[in-house]
Amino acid sequence: MAEFHLLKVKMVIEESKDATTIVFDVPADLEQLYRFKPGQYLTLEYEEAGNLVTRMYSISSAPYEQKLSVTIKTKSPDTLSNHRDQILKQGAVIKVSPPRGMFTVKINPDKRAAYYFLGAGSGIVPLYSMMKSILEQEPLSTVHLLYGNRSYNDIIFRDALIDLNETYSGQFFLRFQLSQEGNRPLINTNRVIGRIDMKIIQRFLEDYPKQANTAFYFISGPQDMIHTTQQTLVEMGIHKNDIFVERNNNNTDLNKIETDISMVNSCKAHITLDGNEIDIEIKEQTILQTLLDAGYDPPFSCTSGVCTTCMAKLSKGSVEMEENYGLDEDEVADGFILTCQSHPTSDEIELSYDV
Ligand code: FES
Repeated sequence: MAEFHLLKVKMVIEESKDATTIVFDVPADLEQLYRFKPGQYLTLEYEEAGNLVTRMYSISSAPYEQKLSVTIKTKSPDTLSNHRDQILKQGAVIKVSPPRGMFTVKINPDKRAAYYFLGAGSGIVPLYSMMKSILEQEPLSTVHLLYGNRSYNDIIFRDALIDLNETYSGQFFLRFQLSQEGNRPLINTNRVIGRIDMKIIQRFLEDYPKQANTAFYFISGPQDMIHTTQQTLVEMGIHKNDIFVERNNNNTDLNKIETDISMVNSCKAHITLDGNEIDIEIKEQTILQTLLDAGYDPPFSCTSGVCTTCMAKLSKGSVEMEENYGLDEDEVADGFILTCQSHPTSDEIELSYDV
């Protein structure tokens, strides 16, 4: 189980008409524990209608900024907005669990890479933390953002992104993609009308060709946007190891993981990993996430069902995968699974990474 601490709200900032940033005061004795990597998230716990609610919120600050903040959607019917008066105010105290998450970027000041960020709605939050870190700490790299929203007023961090575009001119390339701006004329190339789809993504990548041999692609947004973007990149021949996807989107309720998979409430898993035999209970999380949360060191990379680094072989029971871009039909028939995508659908499973 995650450990929680009581953190005080230092500041509340309205970012757009339905997004708010909460800056936390982290006491000196917890500073080490709350160090984070760009792209990670915090888990917040609070009561709602008599029930304990646990939700993940992406961190919007960058580590070099020396502050800890999350940015949340406040108009969503089932978010902290219901507690606006109690929680979204300076001085409020919230139960918070330390940073987690595998959707991160490794910063290296000597690296020269082209980073493409493809986001929509509140999916921008982890990308924002990553982009600021790269722009500030990787001067040889370029950052390209395609960011989809309904309208100009819905854009989270709009003014801050425009400021970054000016400050890092020649290093940061920004395009707002607006789906409901009607027939308004385009003001400049930073704003394009229409939903993010295959053509829009292809055009964005053509308009902003990479200026380095190495390129990485980070996707964060609603499920359908993630699916379209991931598929487009794979079809364009982009190597699967270079695509990273955030599935634990902002405002995700850990008690209500949205999936069509009929996963069991609790599964006893026996797992072989690096010669060790592990017995562990799996609940809502994937097999990979359960092992990581318990402190084990299973192999993984993309966490989005593409690279197959997290592959294991199932010898007992059944699982279902949320996505599978990496295994072919024969491998699946032979019992191979992607543990970053797999939820048990039987009460007991056995699997091995050592294959
Ligand atoms: S970590 Fe890449 S497919 Fe699971």
